[in-house]
Amino acid sequence: MTIDGPEQLAKLKEIGAICRDVLAAMGAMVRPGITPRALDEFAGKMLAERGAKSAPKLAYDFPGYTCISVGDAVAHGIPGDIPLKEGELCNIDVSAEKDGIFADTGSSFAVGKIAPELQQLLDTTKAAQRKAMYAARAGQPINVVGKMVEKEAKKHGYMIIEGLNGHGVGGWIHEEPTIPNTYEPRARTKLVEGQVLTIEPFLTTKSRHYVEDIDGWTLRLAQGGFGAQFEHTFVVTKGAPIVVT
Ligand code: CO
Ligand code: CO
Repeated sequence: MTIDGPEQLAKLKEIGAICRDVLAAMGAMVRPGITPRALDEFAGKMLAERGAKSAPKLAYDFPGYTCISVGDAVAHGIPGDIPLKEGELCNIDVSAEKDGIFADTGSSFAVGKIAPELQQLLDTTKAAQRKAMYAARAGQPINVVGKMVEKEAKKHGYMIIEGLNGHGVGGWIHEEPTIPNTYEPRARTKLVEGQVLTIEPFLTTKSRHYVEDIDGWTLRLAQGGFGAQFEHTFVVTKGAPIVVT
């Protein structure tokens, strides 16, 4: 959506803060031995306390309040009962609705102590998200995002998952436009002031593609290796973005 005034912006900031706080609280609970289901149940309670509804449940009837992807799962993982293990990465994606407005955020977290290579993957993906988001100013073409993500990924030889994209958000969880994380010469539509978007690069050590699990939800790395994602919802301006998550 495109922000129509201060009231709507205030609502977006509110649901953005809820998503951010839920994600931070879940992230603080990530440790070896905890189950994704326990994290998700906590998120369900916190969303309800703050008067928000899980977007994956609302929009897609997803079997969880949040998406928790572990191991070779890169996105849309169903929170299950396998305890997290020391040394792995755990991606948590929180999206929710309040007063008819949606926000969407995500982070990959280290479970206990991780290898330096995995820490570098986390740091690079986070930097790619941030640099792309700050480049996404009004008047810039959509493909500025893929350009920035590619530049950052190349520094360390990482790949970018194709087909998992940033998107419009606000009036619904997934809206137009689609924002590719790879450079698409033809994606030249210009970003507009007030547009509400998410940018969410998925960087990996080996995979350019994902495959869907037989559970019908979980997306796994097609060529193996490790993956990370960071995501924020923000409002496009002529200068720095208004980051709401
Ligand atoms: Co998300
Ligand atoms: Co998203």
